[in-house]
Amino acid sequence: NSFEPCDFVLFGTLGDLSRRKLLPSLYQLEKAELLHPETKIIGVARQDVSTEDYKIEVRKNIEKFGDKDFCEETWARMEERLQYACVDMKNTESYQVFDSVVDAKRTMVCYLATPPAIYGDICRGLHSCNIIDSSVRVVLEKPIGHDLESSKIINDQVSEYFKESQIYRIDHYLGKETVLNLIALRFANSIFATNWDHNSIDHVQITVAESVGIEGRWGYFDDAGQMRDMVQNHLLQVLSLIAMEPPANLNADSIRDEKLKVLKALRPINLSNINESTVRGQYTSGFVKGEEVPGYLEEEGANTRSRTETFVAIKADIDNWRWAGVPFYLRTGKRLPTKVSEVVIYFKRQPHNLFGDSFQNLPPNKLVIRLQPDEGVEITVMNKVPGLTSSGSMDLQKSKLDLSFSEAFSEERIPDAYEKLLLEVMLGNQALFVRRDEIEQAWNWVDSILEAWKHTNEPPEPYQAGTWGPVDSIGLLARANRSWYESK
Ligand code: BG6
Repeated sequence: NSFEPCDFVLFGTLGDLSRRKLLPSLYQLEKAELLHPETKIIGVARQDVSTEDYKIEVRKNIEKFGDKDFCEETWARMEERLQYACVDMKNTESYQVFDSVVDAKRTMVCYLATPPAIYGDICRGLHSCNIIDSSVRVVLEKPIGHDLESSKIINDQVSEYFKESQIYRIDHYLGKETVLNLIALRFANSIFATNWDHNSIDHVQITVAESVGIEGRWGYFDDAGQMRDMVQNHLLQVLSLIAMEPPANLNADSIRDEKLKVLKALRPINLSNINESTVRGQYTSGFVKGEEVPGYLEEEGANTRSRTETFVAIKADIDNWRWAGVPFYLRTGKRLPTKVSEVVIYFKRQPHNLFGDSFQNLPPNKLVIRLQPDEGVEITVMNKVPGLTSSGSMDLQKSKLDLSFSEAFSEERIPDAYEKLLLEVMLGNQALFVRRDEIEQAWNWVDSILEAWKHTNEPPEPYQAGTWGPVDSIGLLARANRSWYESK
């Protein structure tokens, strides 16, 4: 990896993702002096605006979506790097402008923050002006396809012009500090490394709950649903990191090879096991954090007959030696009571009870990894309550060993996932990006579930906004005498 200057070309620079996340993240990298002094940022969009007006627009976005303490000095440095290029992305002739804005001798990073439907056009356009060589990197945002077939089409279009080693597919969960910490936690601590399998673990829960609804994105969301929007990518990536075998090293392909093996070992869910393995729901009106919110079918622009799911719970099984008999329960939904992402590892119960009838059901140890917010790691353990008793018996109580990131690392600011990922692209490190075979394997598993849902032809189960999803999601665990972890 090297810290070298590059031409960072941001396609779709006036769009929502660029405004909310990408430009504020570049500003943070600037602030932390992590951009090479000679790196240039070239914003590309269809609109005809001057570089001067573009700079004003970027500044406004950073003030709105970035740091509370806007730093003039940082901005002065960043502003110097900015340039705007008006390109009609579907028209190859329009790409001639690149002759004058990029320097063929430098590394070029092309970030495609545009609808995936035009990824192919952009690659063709770049090719037409002869600026693609082996040093060019291309960054793709999700969704890469709607199913396996359409994702193959997009990947084929891009790979006509770029080799896999040049393609960086974003899953922003892989840039989150706490998701990366899963690797440290598992492999830098022998206490976990040696207890990480079916001998010690009873089951795993992964919850990614959101309190927001679909935030004005009805058109996109209704076509996707929570399964494509969250499970196919973020939840399966987190699951892979938890379940993978130790990679030989932290090189991109070592990690991605191991994640792929997990995805390949996921037991297919199809018509034969769909009802016992999945629950899908759709929110109705209710109260979230004290505020009254409309139901999914009452959102602006809604098709009132939509059967799109806004909640999914799945019992996933990984058919390999390490995880035999250890279910991974996944749950994600919109308009749940709070925003929280966490992984909970439930360890097995003790084989024998020394503590008498009152402790018949000693609770299992749990490792709770809070990915967001209040990032941290917590272990529940049983302790003796201090003190003397006339019977001489021992009283036990559950307590927590709690590591809060904000307390333990109070000096450190937790960077946004995009800051980390943008930096990694500029350094040329693909470890935190998703390889084509991973994406396709994930689609393969997800497609089978979507197909089975289509066949059963049942509507999603309604759940009131502000609750933890449909009642059946409780049943999914209760059948095996288990229950969802109650988030703080
Ligand atoms: C995006 C989804 O990928 O992730 C959104 O498209 C979702 O629907 C978002 O809200 C959640 O990301 P985070 O970082 O807020 O957990």
